[in-house]
Amino acid sequence: MKNIVLFASGSGSNVENIVQYFQNNVNVTIACVLTNKRDAKVIDRCNRLKINCLYFNKNAFSSTDCVLKILQSYKPDLIILAGFLWKIPSNLITNFPNKIVNIHPALLPKYGGKGMYGNNVHKAVKENNETETGITIHFVNENYDEGAIIQQEKTLVNPSDSMEDIASKVHQLEYEYFPKVIEKLLLEV
Ligand code: GAR
Repeated sequence: MKNIVLFASGSGSNVENIVQYFQNNVNVTIACVLTNKRDAKVIDRCNRLKINCLYFNKNAFSSTDCVLKILQSYKPDLIILAGFLWKIPSNLITNFPNKIVNIHPALLPKYGGKGMYGNNVHKAVKENNETETGITIHFVNENYDEGAIIQQEKTLVNPSDSMEDIASKVHQLEYEYFPKVIEKLLLEV
């Protein structure tokens, strides 16, 4: 049996997609979803999906071992950042080497770093008249968006695409590829 813990800060549509993907897989359990936003939509989704969801604040995350202890109690094979926007502190990185995986809504190293998340990324892609964008699934290290890349997938951007169109294309890639990459990684851990 493999265990996954997910982190999310917002809507949680990737969380829901991952939960549904593994729903009938008896070898994979989604142990818990952790969120740093008390009113995040992902909490409603977890209630509906009957998945454990825990909230933590900035102090607990960055200045205590509280989140580390919670994670250790679940013994996760992978920790998945599915739309999680805070930098991961070093106590988590050192205790879970090569087990923390992030999805970024662009083709890193382009459009990465602090402040580059969600629609900020799609807006910059649009403003720079990029002809393609995509997703990057990568291991997490102590710097934003700099860990080893596991997989990238691309989509075309048309000049007529709005920021919302770009976001939608990128989300489609996320829904298609993220669960499959997680499944593949679980076979290796
Ligand atoms: C996703 O597009 C994910 O790639 C992005 O946040 C969105 C969350 O959507 N993550 C980042 O920007 C991380 N830097 P969701 O809440 O609907 O899954």
